[in-house]
Amino acid sequence: MQHWIASTEAYVKAQLQGAEGGHDWWHVYRVWQLSKRIAQQESADTLTVELSALLHDIADAKFHDGDEELGPARATAFLEQLGVDAPRVAHIGNIIRYMSYKGGHNEGAFYSPEFAVVRDADRLDAIGAIGIARTFNYGGFRNRALYDPAIPPQLGISKEAYKNSTAPTLNHFYEKLLLLKDGMLTATGKQLAEARHAYMQTFVDRFKAEWEGLDG
Ligand code: ADP
Ligand code: NI
Repeated sequence: MQHWIASTEAYVKAQLQGAEGGHDWWHVYRVWQLSKRIAQQESADTLTVELSALLHDIADAKFHDGDEELGPARATAFLEQLGVDAPRVAHIGNIIRYMSYKGGHNEGAFYSPEFAVVRDADRLDAIGAIGIARTFNYGGFRNRALYDPAIPPQLGISKEAYKNSTAPTLNHFYEKLLLLKDGMLTATGKQLAEARHAYMQTFVDRFKAEWEGLDG
């Protein structure tokens, strides 16, 4: 149903007008493209994959007073009025509901091949060169320090503490980004994550060396 995709693309672009640079239409665009590529290698339904990728971030809870149901609710309401069949709408609602990382507290709660594809694509966009750019953009948006050697990363913290963290941006690499590689669900996702992870690790190592004037 090609017109469903085109209508959804237009709706999402309108919804994300003025969004923070790491969670804007271009993030959705990248996840959409990567999802299509990964879906080709997995036996996943491409229509469900594409609609989920397009709609996965239309109302991110952290920009809406922590309301985690707003995103799935808006996405499913939109798909219903588009005329998408009810089982597919419910499935897409679940994909969106369970995708978010939330400090690792959402892991293993839901699975389908389509979920695996879109979640991997979203997490690949959180690592590598793009991941670095998005993370410092978000830190700037929240006016966080780049780094503070006196504030160590906090691993294994509660979902609330993760959401409310005001730690320096570099800590986010240890608290989330460098952990994502091992949680990839598809073979293609695992393979793409390796190179993006290595690039990010090199960046962090250089960043810390340069911080102390110790780079060679
Ligand atoms: P998810 O898409 O799994 O819900 P988020 O929206 O929390 O994950 O994160 C998406 C991206 O936003 C992160 O990969 C990172 O680039 C940026 N981001 C989110 N939280 C932080 C933070 N506390 N510090 C720096 N960047 C962050
Ligand atoms: Ni996303």
